[in-house]
Amino acid sequence: MVKKFAFIDRSYKPTSNDLICLFKVTPEGMSFEEAVNNVALESSVGTWTPVSSNQKYVNKLGAKAFAISGDWVKIAYPQELFEEGSVSNILSSIAGNVFGMKAVKGLRLEDIKFPQKLLKSFPGPRHGIRGYRKILKIKNRPLVGTIVKPKLGLRTNDHARVAYESWIGGCDLVKDDENLSSQKFNPFEKRAAKTLEMCDKAAEEIGENKGYLINVTSEAMTMLNRADLVKELGGKFVMHDIITAGFSSLETLRKNCKLGIHAHRAMHGAFTENPDHGLSMMCVADFARMAGVDSLHIGTGIGKMRGGKREVGEINEEIESKRVGKTKHRLEQNWAEMKPVFSVCSGGIYPGHVPYLMKNFGKDIIIQAGGGCHGHPNGTRVGATAMRQAVDATMEGDSLNDYGKSHKELMDALEFWGRVRF
Ligand code: 3PG
Ligand code: 3PG
Ligand code: MG
Repeated sequence: MVKKFAFIDRSYKPTSNDLICLFKVTPEGMSFEEAVNNVALESSVGTWTPVSSNQKYVNKLGAKAFAISGDWVKIAYPQELFEEGSVSNILSSIAGNVFGMKAVKGLRLEDIKFPQKLLKSFPGPRHGIRGYRKILKIKNRPLVGTIVKPKLGLRTNDHARVAYESWIGGCDLVKDDENLSSQKFNPFEKRAAKTLEMCDKAAEEIGENKGYLINVTSEAMTMLNRADLVKELGGKFVMHDIITAGFSSLETLRKNCKLGIHAHRAMHGAFTENPDHGLSMMCVADFARMAGVDSLHIGTGIGKMRGGKREVGEINEEIESKRVGKTKHRLEQNWAEMKPVFSVCSGGIYPGHVPYLMKNFGKDIIIQAGGGCHGHPNGTRVGATAMRQAVDATMEGDSLNDYGKSHKELMDALEFWGRVRF
């Protein structure tokens, strides 16, 4: 006789061998318990009906829903269910068929706790925060970055010139936008050569190290060739669209490329935005850290993109700390020796936002402004200077307004975009 809800065991105490998922479940046409049972079985060893091919030893690998509270449930999965070092494989179980089952009107995977053995099978960041700081020789202030804008359409020479102006003005990092790869108006090889040449020129003229995060996203072999070219040309960083390209593409890059990897999360909103369905940005950030990105967009809590201060703050802790505690939306995690990832606050940012970002997310952040740099009334170079001044002011404990009195670039930016109250 098969137990009615064989994948629910409220008395189960999870062990250090378990991967634990925190799900919010909204059932459809059945009880909450039945829906939970369906989620646990479909995401581990079961299907919609018992099968004659089952073996007793398979049952041991079944997931167990063990903590049910309101709409929320924690499900434990023995780590033997998963291939080591493969984000795709883990996702195909815990975030696979389950999202499309009729049993659930909504299913939200809010966070995952990884057991140490499985965690250790992933490489994590090669450089992380300290590595970036070492490359750029910047001890403890936030890094200032920009995105070349317009995001698409600029021809290579103009792209390289905008990048140069940004570095000369004060940016540490310049990056491509997520949708620039190798279009006819700005082909990759030409862009890499010209922009890296400008990067060296700016660094020499200004006497500071500078970095160019060039988007190598493509089919895997092409991506690796592009990363090789960047290395040959003396570049120190590449950029990867981790969601549109996929995690196995990221893993291929991490394995084969020793440069810093900047991760853009474009398209995450398609599945992270609905609080009752999909996968949270926290889960994306976990996998990004494990797969080995060195910097990752986490949101701003204040700019043009959705994602509130609480959420962005928790993601920031999750990817930068050694250990994180549990909250309503997050499970505890010991990251052990896995290096921290540099959090990137980007999307609708301008100088007035800088004190807010540093107050809430600390100094270990990359503050990036595209429009907030190139949209400055006096142009890119001045816009970059204003961003850098906003960081310097905040580092010195000055208000932007006071600092702006003796720094015209910043004052003009404050007057143009406004001051930010928070
Ligand atoms: C699928 O991959 O489509 C499912 O695993 C189908 O399995 P089922 O026929 O047992 O539901
Ligand atoms: C990004 O990649 O984060 C965006 O391109 C930011 O651009 P914005 O600063 O102009 O919003
Ligand atoms: Mg962008």
